[in-house]
Amino acid sequence: MPLGSALFDNARDAAPELARLLAGKRAVALTGAGISTESGIPDYRGPGTRERARSPIQHRDFLRDASLRQRYWARAYVGWERFSRSRPNAGHRALAELEAAGALAAIVTQNVDRLHQAAGSRDVVELHGALAEVRCLSCGSVESRDDVQHRMTLQNPTLADATGAAAPDGDAELARSIADRFLGPECVTCSGPLKPDVVFFGGTVDKAIVDAAYERVERAEVLLVLGTSLVVYSGFRFVRRAHERGIPLAIVTLGETRADGLATLRVQGPLGEVLVETARLLGVPPEG
Ligand SMILES: NC(=O)c1ccc[n+]([C@@H]2O[C@H](COP(=O)([O-])OP(=O)(O)OC[C@H]3O[C@@H](n4cnc5c(N)ncnc54)[C@H](O)[C@@H]3O)[C@@H](O)[C@H]2O)c1
Ligand SMILES: [Zn+2]
Repeated sequence: MPLGSALFDNARDAAPELARLLAGKRAVALTGAGISTESGIPDYRGPGTRERARSPIQHRDFLRDASLRQRYWARAYVGWERFSRSRPNAGHRALAELEAAGALAAIVTQNVDRLHQAAGSRDVVELHGALAEVRCLSCGSVESRDDVQHRMTLQNPTLADATGAAAPDGDAELARSIADRFLGPECVTCSGPLKPDVVFFGGTVDKAIVDAAYERVERAEVLLVLGTSLVVYSGFRFVRRAHERGIPLAIVTLGETRADGLATLRVQGPLGEVLVETARLLGVPPEG
């Protein structure tokens, strides 16, 4: 931790400090999987994650191996039911209220769950895309995941009731024997293979999206880092940039992050509580 930085482990002590840091400043938030765990979506690296950790699909493998794609879609098919029913939690709502009140300018998110938008946040840069959209690897056309899900249900009538434990990224754990029988989806336009329109591990973020995120960070007067270990470079680079610019950096994340040494304010507390209390101290009324 840099000299003069402060560490808090509970919302009651942390919120006044966070509110002081944010007051009258143009704040931008960088969010990760940790803001959505309170909505029931697992993260990769949180406390207790280890036992269900498994290796997520790599971009390269998805492109080159049809059988991996088939198994991916089988798991994703089963996981979608629960994932698509997830609702924003108090932390998402507090951020939307802070934006509406002019206390937060924008969110750059690594999440693919669209829960910020569902909570009412408007300026959201989705660094890694969204699972709600699917793209054809051959012709590039995009369609909604709900439509693709519907086609998969029709093609796999015996799997309609299959369930599996929730895994990060809308995935589910699923027996190999079931996954191997699964008929994966095809593009309605060209019959090409489909990929959820998200950035898998080893994939690259579109330059236009990276630029949009940098643009938010360049105009920020304080950066809030919320629920991300920052292990993935695609998020970490924005924190590094904020540090180079010399703006205050507040990190609210349980567990270690890659930027702990750069933080002005470090909070090891649950996001819902911390954000709700901070918004209250800033005079932002809770949702009616
Ligand atoms: N909800 C989603 O859309 C989702 C879920 C899992 C993974 N992903 C993807 O995987 C990558 C994972 O990287 P990441 O850094 O975002 O996640 P991560 O799993 O590496 O880190 C999440 C961090 O949040 C902390 N955390 C969990 N619950 C918290 C809570 N209630 N309050 C405070 N902190 C909490 C964890 O301890 C952990 O340090 C991302 O790029 C993202 O695209 C997305
Ligand atoms: Zn196509």
